[in-house]
Amino acid sequence: MALDIEAIRADFPILGRTLPNGKKLVYFDNAATSQKPQCVIDAMSRYYEEYNSNAHRANHTLADEATTALESAREKISSYFGTSPDQMIYTSGATEAINLVAYGWARENLDEGDVVVLTEMEHHADIVPWQQMSIDKGVEVRYVPIDTESFTLDMDAFEVALDGASLVCVVHTSNVLGVRNPVEKIVKMSHSVGARVLIDCAQGAPHERIDFDSLGADFVAISAHKMAGPTGIGCILVKRDAMAEMGPFMTGGSMIKRVTTEGSTFQEGHAMFETGTPRIAEAIGWGAAVEWLDQFDMREVHDHINDVASWTAAQMMDIPGIKIYGDPDRDDSSGAVSFLHESIQSQDLALLLDEGGFAVRTGHHCAQPLMDALGVPSTNRASFWIYNTMGEAESFVEYLSQVIERFA
Ligand code: ALA
Repeated sequence: MALDIEAIRADFPILGRTLPNGKKLVYFDNAATSQKPQCVIDAMSRYYEEYNSNAHRANHTLADEATTALESAREKISSYFGTSPDQMIYTSGATEAINLVAYGWARENLDEGDVVVLTEMEHHADIVPWQQMSIDKGVEVRYVPIDTESFTLDMDAFEVALDGASLVCVVHTSNVLGVRNPVEKIVKMSHSVGARVLIDCAQGAPHERIDFDSLGADFVAISAHKMAGPTGIGCILVKRDAMAEMGPFMTGGSMIKRVTTEGSTFQEGHAMFETGTPRIAEAIGWGAAVEWLDQFDMREVHDHINDVASWTAAQMMDIPGIKIYGDPDRDDSSGAVSFLHESIQSQDLALLLDEGGFAVRTGHHCAQPLMDALGVPSTNRASFWIYNTMGEAESFVEYLSQVIERFA
Protein backbone atom coordinates (compact mmCIF):
# COMPACT_ATOMS: atom_id res chain seq x y z
CA MET A 1 0.00 0.00 0.00
CA ALA A 2 1.39 3.41 -0.96
CA LEU A 3 2.27 5.76 1.87
CA ASP A 4 -0.36 8.42 2.60
CA ILE A 5 2.04 11.36 2.88
CA GLU A 6 -0.68 13.90 3.72
CA ALA A 7 -1.87 11.72 6.64
CA ILE A 8 1.75 11.34 7.78
CA ARG A 9 2.26 15.11 7.61
CA ALA A 10 -0.81 15.63 9.79
CA ASP A 11 1.05 13.83 12.62
CA PHE A 12 3.71 16.59 12.66
CA PRO A 13 2.39 19.90 14.01
CA ILE A 14 5.56 21.80 13.05
CA LEU A 15 5.10 21.09 9.34
CA GLY A 16 2.18 23.53 9.26
CA ARG A 17 4.38 26.33 10.48
CA THR A 18 4.68 29.72 8.81
CA LEU A 19 8.04 31.48 9.27
CA PRO A 20 8.37 35.08 10.55
CA ASN A 21 8.72 36.35 6.95
CA GLY A 22 5.36 34.82 6.04
CA LYS A 23 6.84 31.89 4.08
CA LYS A 24 5.59 28.38 4.70
CA LEU A 25 8.25 26.12 6.19
CA VAL A 26 9.75 23.52 3.87
CA TYR A 27 11.96 21.37 6.08
CA PHE A 28 14.83 19.77 4.20
CA ASP A 29 17.29 19.41 7.10
CA ASN A 30 16.28 15.93 8.15
CA ALA A 31 19.79 14.50 8.18
CA ALA A 32 20.55 16.97 10.98
CA THR A 33 17.40 16.07 12.90
CA SER A 34 13.94 14.91 11.93
CA GLN A 35 10.73 16.49 13.14
CA LYS A 36 8.70 14.74 15.86
CA PRO A 37 5.17 13.40 15.54
CA GLN A 38 2.49 14.44 18.03
CA CYS A 39 2.49 10.99 19.71
CA VAL A 40 6.17 11.47 20.72
CA ILE A 41 5.50 14.97 22.06
CA ASP A 42 2.43 13.65 23.95
CA ALA A 43 4.27 10.65 25.46
CA MET A 44 6.98 12.95 26.84
CA SER A 45 4.45 15.52 28.12
CA ARG A 46 2.42 12.78 29.79
CA TYR A 47 5.49 11.62 31.71
CA TYR A 48 6.16 15.16 32.96
CA GLU A 49 2.48 15.86 33.69
CA GLU A 50 1.50 12.56 35.30
CA TYR A 51 4.39 10.44 36.60
CA ASN A 52 7.62 12.46 36.53
CA SER A 53 9.91 10.69 38.96
CA ASN A 54 13.36 9.14 39.00
CA ALA A 55 13.73 5.53 37.82
CA HIS A 56 15.42 2.53 39.48
CA ARG A 57 15.53 4.22 42.87
CA ALA A 58 12.48 4.76 45.09
CA ASN A 59 9.48 2.41 45.41
CA HIS A 60 6.62 4.89 45.47
CA THR A 61 3.95 4.72 42.75
CA LEU A 62 5.42 7.42 40.51
CA ALA A 63 8.90 5.90 40.70
CA ASP A 64 7.47 2.49 39.77
CA GLU A 65 5.63 4.01 36.82
CA ALA A 66 8.75 5.83 35.62
CA THR A 67 10.89 2.68 35.95
CA THR A 68 8.31 0.58 34.11
CA ALA A 69 8.06 3.15 31.30
CA LEU A 70 11.86 3.38 30.95
CA GLU A 71 12.27 -0.40 30.73
CA SER A 72 9.23 -0.87 28.50
CA ALA A 73 10.81 1.68 26.12
CA ARG A 74 14.02 -0.40 26.14
CA GLU A 75 11.97 -3.45 25.16
CA LYS A 76 10.21 -1.62 22.33
CA ILE A 77 13.40 -0.06 20.99
CA SER A 78 15.56 -3.20 21.18
CA SER A 79 12.78 -5.24 19.57
CA TYR A 80 12.45 -2.62 16.78
CA PHE A 81 16.17 -3.14 16.13
CA GLY A 82 15.80 -6.92 16.05
CA THR A 83 17.46 -7.73 19.34
CA SER A 84 16.85 -8.18 23.05
CA PRO A 85 16.95 -5.55 25.83
CA ASP A 86 20.11 -6.96 27.45
CA GLN A 87 22.09 -6.09 24.30
CA MET A 88 21.11 -2.42 24.38
CA ILE A 89 22.77 0.37 26.36
CA TYR A 90 21.08 3.77 26.47
CA THR A 91 23.43 6.63 25.58
CA SER A 92 22.95 10.32 24.86
CA GLY A 93 23.15 9.63 21.13
CA ALA A 94 25.41 8.03 18.54
CA THR A 95 28.41 10.13 19.61
CA GLU A 96 28.33 8.83 23.17
CA ALA A 97 27.61 5.34 21.81
CA ILE A 98 30.86 5.37 19.80
CA ASN A 99 32.80 6.91 22.69
CA LEU A 100 31.51 4.06 24.83
CA VAL A 101 33.00 1.54 22.39
CA ALA A 102 36.29 3.49 22.47
CA TYR A 103 36.52 3.96 26.24
CA GLY A 104 34.54 0.90 27.36
CA TRP A 105 35.77 -1.72 24.87
CA ALA A 106 38.88 -0.52 22.99
CA ARG A 107 40.61 0.89 26.06
CA GLU A 108 40.23 -2.53 27.71
CA ASN A 109 41.12 -4.66 24.69
CA LEU A 110 43.47 -2.78 22.35
CA ASP A 111 47.13 -2.00 22.86
CA GLU A 112 49.93 -0.22 21.10
CA GLY A 113 50.13 -1.22 17.45
CA ASP A 114 46.60 -2.67 17.28
CA VAL A 115 44.81 -1.47 14.17
CA VAL A 116 41.49 0.38 13.96
CA VAL A 117 40.12 0.75 10.42
CA LEU A 118 37.94 3.77 9.62
CA THR A 119 36.77 5.30 6.36
CA GLU A 120 37.12 8.80 4.93
CA MET A 121 33.33 8.95 5.00
CA GLU A 122 33.02 8.86 8.80
CA HIS A 123 31.32 11.52 10.88
CA HIS A 124 33.70 13.18 13.37
CA ALA A 125 31.97 11.13 16.08
CA ASP A 126 33.59 8.05 14.53
CA ILE A 127 37.00 9.65 13.96
CA VAL A 128 37.96 11.76 16.96
CA PRO A 129 37.49 9.04 19.66
CA TRP A 130 39.87 6.81 17.64
CA GLN A 131 42.41 9.59 17.23
CA GLN A 132 42.26 10.02 21.01
CA MET A 133 42.69 6.26 21.41
CA SER A 134 45.73 6.51 19.20
CA ILE A 135 47.19 9.18 21.52
CA ASP A 136 46.21 7.32 24.73
CA LYS A 137 46.98 3.74 23.73
CA GLY A 138 49.14 3.97 20.60
CA VAL A 139 46.65 2.19 18.35
CA GLU A 140 47.17 2.63 14.62
CA VAL A 141 44.27 4.27 12.76
CA ARG A 142 43.85 3.47 9.06
CA TYR A 143 41.46 5.28 6.72
CA VAL A 144 39.82 3.61 3.74
CA PRO A 145 39.51 6.16 0.90
CA ILE A 146 36.44 6.87 -1.17
CA ASP A 147 36.28 6.87 -4.94
CA THR A 148 35.47 10.51 -5.70
CA GLU A 149 33.84 9.61 -9.04
CA SER A 150 31.29 7.15 -7.67
CA PHE A 151 31.30 8.54 -4.08
CA THR A 152 31.53 4.97 -2.77
CA LEU A 153 34.07 3.25 -0.56
CA ASP A 154 37.10 1.79 -2.26
CA MET A 155 36.47 -1.83 -1.29
CA ASP A 156 39.84 -3.01 -2.65
CA ALA A 157 41.55 -0.55 -0.32
CA PHE A 158 39.26 -1.77 2.46
CA GLU A 159 40.44 -5.33 1.95
CA VAL A 160 44.08 -4.19 2.14
CA ALA A 161 43.41 -2.07 5.26
CA LEU A 162 41.88 -5.09 7.02
CA ASP A 163 45.25 -6.82 7.28
CA GLY A 164 45.94 -7.22 11.01
CA ALA A 165 42.88 -5.16 12.05
CA SER A 166 41.35 -5.51 15.52
CA LEU A 167 38.41 -3.19 15.04
CA VAL A 168 36.59 -1.83 11.98
CA CYS A 169 34.33 1.23 12.32
CA VAL A 170 32.19 2.16 9.34
CA VAL A 171 29.27 4.48 8.80
CA HIS A 172 26.15 2.69 7.50
CA THR A 173 24.99 5.69 5.45
CA SER A 174 26.96 8.88 4.88
CA ASN A 175 25.23 11.95 6.33
CA VAL A 176 26.81 14.03 3.55
CA LEU A 177 26.51 11.85 0.45
CA GLY A 178 23.50 9.72 1.35
CA VAL A 179 25.57 6.75 0.15
CA ARG A 180 24.83 3.45 1.91
CA ASN A 181 27.88 1.30 2.47
CA PRO A 182 27.80 -2.49 1.90
CA VAL A 183 27.71 -3.08 5.65
CA GLU A 184 26.72 -6.76 5.43
CA LYS A 185 29.83 -7.47 3.34
CA ILE A 186 31.97 -5.26 5.60
CA VAL A 187 30.84 -7.22 8.68
CA LYS A 188 31.66 -10.56 7.00
CA MET A 189 35.05 -9.41 5.70
CA SER A 190 36.00 -7.93 9.08
CA HIS A 191 34.98 -11.02 11.01
CA SER A 192 36.94 -13.21 8.59
CA VAL A 193 40.15 -11.52 9.81
CA GLY A 194 39.02 -11.70 13.46
CA ALA A 195 38.22 -7.98 13.83
CA ARG A 196 35.25 -6.66 15.78
CA VAL A 197 32.95 -4.32 13.84
CA LEU A 198 31.15 -1.13 14.79
CA ILE A 199 28.53 0.23 12.39
CA ASP A 200 27.42 3.83 12.88
CA CYS A 201 23.72 3.71 12.00
CA ALA A 202 22.82 7.28 13.01
CA GLN A 203 21.98 8.11 9.41
CA GLY A 204 20.92 4.63 8.29
CA ALA A 205 18.28 3.86 10.94
CA PRO A 206 15.84 6.57 9.73
CA HIS A 207 15.91 5.04 6.25
CA GLU A 208 15.81 1.29 6.73
CA ARG A 209 15.03 -1.24 9.39
CA ILE A 210 18.28 -2.15 11.15
CA ASP A 211 18.17 -5.74 12.38
CA PHE A 212 21.05 -6.05 14.83
CA ASP A 213 20.98 -9.82 15.26
CA SER A 214 20.89 -10.51 11.50
CA LEU A 215 23.48 -7.87 10.63
CA GLY A 216 25.92 -9.59 12.97
CA ALA A 217 27.98 -6.48 13.81
CA ASP A 218 29.48 -6.42 17.29
CA PHE A 219 28.41 -2.83 17.93
CA VAL A 220 25.74 -0.66 16.32
CA ALA A 221 25.42 3.02 17.26
CA ILE A 222 22.02 4.68 16.90
CA SER A 223 20.62 8.13 17.55
CA ALA A 224 16.91 8.73 18.25
CA HIS A 225 16.56 12.27 16.99
CA LYS A 226 16.98 11.54 13.27
CA MET A 227 14.21 8.93 13.38
CA ALA A 228 11.28 10.88 14.90
CA GLY A 229 12.56 10.55 18.46
CA PRO A 230 13.78 13.24 20.85
CA THR A 231 17.28 14.69 21.09
CA GLY A 232 19.53 13.58 23.94
CA ILE A 233 19.07 9.85 23.56
CA GLY A 234 20.44 6.98 21.50
CA CYS A 235 21.95 3.62 22.18
CA ILE A 236 24.74 1.24 21.45
CA LEU A 237 23.66 -2.28 20.61
CA VAL A 238 26.36 -4.69 21.73
CA LYS A 239 26.73 -8.43 21.21
CA ARG A 240 26.79 -10.29 24.53
CA ASP A 241 30.36 -11.56 24.15
CA ALA A 242 31.62 -8.08 23.26
CA MET A 243 29.78 -6.56 26.24
CA ALA A 244 31.47 -9.10 28.49
CA GLU A 245 34.83 -7.66 27.34
CA MET A 246 33.87 -4.08 28.28
CA GLY A 247 34.84 -2.11 31.35
CA PRO A 248 33.11 0.95 32.83
CA PHE A 249 33.38 4.28 30.99
CA MET A 250 31.36 6.89 32.92
CA THR A 251 31.29 6.08 36.62
CA GLY A 252 29.11 7.24 39.51
CA GLY A 253 25.51 6.61 40.54
CA SER A 254 23.33 3.78 39.18
CA MET A 255 26.15 1.71 37.64
CA ILE A 256 27.52 0.48 40.99
CA LYS A 257 26.73 -2.51 43.20
CA ARG A 258 28.53 -1.30 46.32
CA VAL A 259 30.67 1.74 47.12
CA THR A 260 32.88 2.04 50.16
CA THR A 261 35.63 4.51 50.93
CA GLU A 262 38.03 1.79 49.80
CA GLY A 263 36.56 1.25 46.34
CA SER A 264 33.53 0.17 44.32
CA THR A 265 32.02 -2.83 42.59
CA PHE A 266 29.92 -2.48 39.47
CA GLN A 267 26.64 -3.72 38.05
CA GLU A 268 26.81 -6.27 35.26
CA GLY A 269 25.57 -6.05 31.67
CA HIS A 270 24.07 -2.87 30.30
CA ALA A 271 23.52 -1.47 33.81
CA MET A 272 27.31 -1.03 34.17
CA PHE A 273 27.25 1.57 31.40
CA GLU A 274 24.17 3.63 32.31
CA THR A 275 25.39 6.15 34.85
CA GLY A 276 23.40 8.74 36.80
CA THR A 277 19.74 9.59 36.39
CA PRO A 278 18.51 7.94 33.19
CA ARG A 279 17.10 9.89 30.26
CA ILE A 280 13.58 8.88 31.20
CA ALA A 281 11.44 11.30 29.18
CA GLU A 282 13.69 10.84 26.17
CA ALA A 283 13.53 7.03 26.34
CA ILE A 284 9.73 7.19 26.59
CA GLY A 285 9.65 9.56 23.60
CA TRP A 286 11.93 7.27 21.58
CA GLY A 287 9.73 4.28 22.46
CA ALA A 288 6.73 6.19 21.08
CA ALA A 289 8.76 7.08 17.96
CA VAL A 290 9.62 3.45 17.13
CA GLU A 291 5.98 2.47 17.69
CA TRP A 292 4.99 5.22 15.25
CA LEU A 293 7.59 4.12 12.68
CA ASP A 294 6.62 0.49 13.09
CA GLN A 295 3.31 1.11 11.30
CA PHE A 296 5.23 1.65 8.03
CA ASP A 297 7.06 -0.66 5.69
CA MET A 298 10.54 0.90 5.79
CA ARG A 299 11.22 -0.25 2.22
CA GLU A 300 8.29 1.96 1.11
CA VAL A 301 9.59 4.80 3.26
CA HIS A 302 13.02 4.43 1.69
CA ASP A 303 11.59 4.33 -1.84
CA HIS A 304 9.48 7.43 -1.27
CA ILE A 305 12.45 9.41 0.10
CA ASN A 306 14.67 8.13 -2.69
CA ASP A 307 12.12 9.16 -5.35
CA VAL A 308 11.93 12.72 -4.00
CA ALA A 309 15.71 13.00 -3.57
CA SER A 310 16.68 11.54 -6.93
CA TRP A 311 14.09 13.65 -8.78
CA THR A 312 15.33 16.79 -7.00
CA ALA A 313 18.97 16.01 -7.74
CA ALA A 314 18.23 15.31 -11.41
CA GLN A 315 16.48 18.69 -11.75
CA MET A 316 19.26 20.48 -9.89
CA MET A 317 21.86 19.09 -12.29
CA ASP A 318 20.16 21.10 -15.02
CA ILE A 319 20.60 24.36 -13.09
CA PRO A 320 23.73 26.14 -14.40
CA GLY A 321 26.67 26.09 -11.95
CA ILE A 322 25.27 23.44 -9.56
CA LYS A 323 27.40 20.44 -8.72
CA ILE A 324 26.00 17.49 -6.75
CA TYR A 325 28.24 15.49 -4.40
CA GLY A 326 26.96 11.93 -4.19
CA ASP A 327 24.73 9.87 -6.41
CA PRO A 328 21.12 10.25 -5.25
CA ASP A 329 20.00 8.21 -8.25
CA ARG A 330 21.39 5.01 -6.75
CA ASP A 331 18.68 2.75 -5.40
CA ASP A 332 20.44 2.48 -2.05
CA SER A 333 21.00 6.25 -1.59
CA SER A 334 19.26 7.73 1.38
CA GLY A 335 17.76 11.13 0.83
CA ALA A 336 20.73 13.47 1.25
CA VAL A 337 21.57 15.76 -1.67
CA SER A 338 24.79 17.69 -1.09
CA PHE A 339 25.53 20.43 -3.57
CA LEU A 340 27.48 23.61 -4.28
CA HIS A 341 27.10 26.47 -6.71
CA GLU A 342 30.25 27.50 -8.58
CA SER A 343 30.00 31.19 -7.68
CA ILE A 344 27.47 31.66 -4.82
CA GLN A 345 29.03 30.87 -1.43
CA SER A 346 27.29 28.03 0.38
CA GLN A 347 26.41 30.20 3.40
CA ASP A 348 24.91 32.89 1.14
CA LEU A 349 22.93 30.31 -0.79
CA ALA A 350 21.57 28.82 2.44
CA LEU A 351 20.42 32.26 3.61
CA LEU A 352 18.74 32.92 0.27
CA LEU A 353 16.99 29.56 0.51
CA ASP A 354 15.92 30.34 4.08
CA GLU A 355 14.30 33.56 2.81
CA GLY A 356 12.13 31.32 0.64
CA GLY A 357 11.21 29.13 3.64
CA PHE A 358 13.57 26.25 2.72
CA ALA A 359 15.59 24.83 5.64
CA VAL A 360 18.78 23.17 4.37
CA ARG A 361 22.06 22.60 6.16
CA THR A 362 25.36 24.20 5.20
CA GLY A 363 28.85 23.45 6.45
CA HIS A 364 31.23 20.53 6.75
CA HIS A 365 28.52 18.33 8.28
CA CYS A 366 30.97 17.08 10.94
CA ALA A 367 32.84 15.24 8.18
CA GLN A 368 35.92 17.34 7.43
CA PRO A 369 38.07 14.41 6.18
CA LEU A 370 35.32 13.70 3.64
CA MET A 371 35.26 17.38 2.65
CA ASP A 372 39.04 17.16 2.18
CA ALA A 373 38.63 14.09 -0.04
CA LEU A 374 35.98 15.93 -2.08
CA GLY A 375 38.24 18.99 -2.25
CA VAL A 376 35.67 21.41 -0.81
CA PRO A 377 35.40 23.18 2.56
CA SER A 378 31.64 22.72 2.88
CA THR A 379 28.47 21.90 0.97
CA ASN A 380 24.82 22.83 1.06
CA ARG A 381 22.70 19.80 1.85
CA ALA A 382 19.00 19.21 1.28
CA SER A 383 17.94 16.07 3.13
CA PHE A 384 14.54 14.50 2.84
CA TRP A 385 12.40 12.28 5.02
CA ILE A 386 9.11 10.45 5.15
CA TYR A 387 6.89 13.56 5.21
CA ASN A 388 8.51 15.50 2.35
CA THR A 389 6.48 15.74 -0.83
CA MET A 390 7.21 15.98 -4.52
CA GLY A 391 5.35 19.33 -4.39
CA GLU A 392 7.90 20.64 -1.90
CA ALA A 393 10.71 19.37 -4.12
CA GLU A 394 9.20 21.13 -7.14
CA SER A 395 8.90 24.44 -5.30
CA PHE A 396 12.50 24.04 -4.06
CA VAL A 397 13.90 23.49 -7.55
CA GLU A 398 11.90 26.44 -8.91
CA TYR A 399 13.01 28.77 -6.11
CA LEU A 400 16.65 27.64 -6.37
CA SER A 401 16.65 28.26 -10.14
CA GLN A 402 15.25 31.78 -9.60
CA VAL A 403 17.81 32.57 -6.90
CA ILE A 404 20.67 31.41 -9.09
CA GLU A 405 19.40 33.32 -12.10
CA ARG A 406 19.21 36.46 -9.99
CA PHE A 407 22.45 36.27 -7.99
CA ALA A 408 24.93 34.20 -10.00
N1 ALA B 1 25.38 14.85 11.98
C1 ALA B 1 24.26 15.69 11.75
C2 ALA B 1 24.21 16.24 10.36
O1 ALA B 1 24.63 15.59 9.46
C3 ALA B 1 24.06 16.70 12.81
O2 ALA B 1 23.72 17.33 10.14
